[in-house]
Amino acid sequence: MTVIALVGKGGVGKSTIASQLVRRLSEIDTVLAVDADPNSNLCDKLGIDVKGSIGELRDEIIADPAKVPEGLSKQQYVNERVQRAISETDRVDLLVMGRPEGEGCYCFINSALKDSFVKLIPNYRFTVVDNEAGMEHMSRKTLPRADVFLFVSDPTVTGIRTVGRLSQLAEDVGIETGKKILILNNVASDLSDKLDKVAKEAGFSEIMTFPYEPYISESAMNTEELDVPKNTEFGKSITKLLEFII
Ligand SMILES: Nc1ncnc2c1ncn2[C@@H]1O[C@H](COP(=O)(O)OP(=O)(O)O)[C@@H](O)[C@H]1O
Ligand SMILES: [Mg+2]
Repeated sequence: MTVIALVGKGGVGKSTIASQLVRRLSEIDTVLAVDADPNSNLCDKLGIDVKGSIGELRDEIIADPAKVPEGLSKQQYVNERVQRAISETDRVDLLVMGRPEGEGCYCFINSALKDSFVKLIPNYRFTVVDNEAGMEHMSRKTLPRADVFLFVSDPTVTGIRTVGRLSQLAEDVGIETGKKILILNNVASDLSDKLDKVAKEAGFSEIMTFPYEPYISESAMNTEELDVPKNTEFGKSITKLLEFII
């Protein structure tokens, strides 16, 4: 089982890359796709109808804590409800995190939800977590471990330094990390030499570039679903990324 987490500012292309990664990984084996961005549209890009979210579930349990059926522990009840919130398809299951919590201490429910989320991971060959820009889940350590961290940025010095700090944050909060890679998305020309130095200074030794892909913009004019052909330049970059991951 391999856990892949995508991190980066809003609008850099996390969900675009995550969705294509999920599609391609699902050709190999089962995938749990986790949409951890409340403003995201990973489900639309994958063409999956969403059944429910962890956020809704949290609100519901907090509103009526007496709902736990007799004979079930609270944790068992949460596990069962999380299982039911998953949108299932043939090879890809989707879990939507939804809205973050409001004010107040919901420590029990949050840790119960976190536990049931972590327990799902071994059921799949791959888990892909499309994180939100705010890093809320990361600082809360919702995900205790990632085999592969994909730090996505635009090809700018500011962008690279920002994900450099996010990478540092992951380390500081103690998220166990296998490989990490900097992905520069929307690269129009060969900037490798220039950005290599900045990337190294920001702590990245592995760098991959994804081109600006006209197919993506054209497709977005017609449908919310996104399935980038393998023979496009973007598709070829996904293939390279797969080789790095597996
Ligand atoms: N390589 C690319 N080529 C063309 N358009 C892209 C590319 N990557 C992302 N986009 C577009 O940029 C926008 C933001 O991408 P998205 O994946 O939603 O970012 P994020 O999830 O990081 O907020 C979307 O409209 C998407 O279609
Ligand atoms: Mg997104």
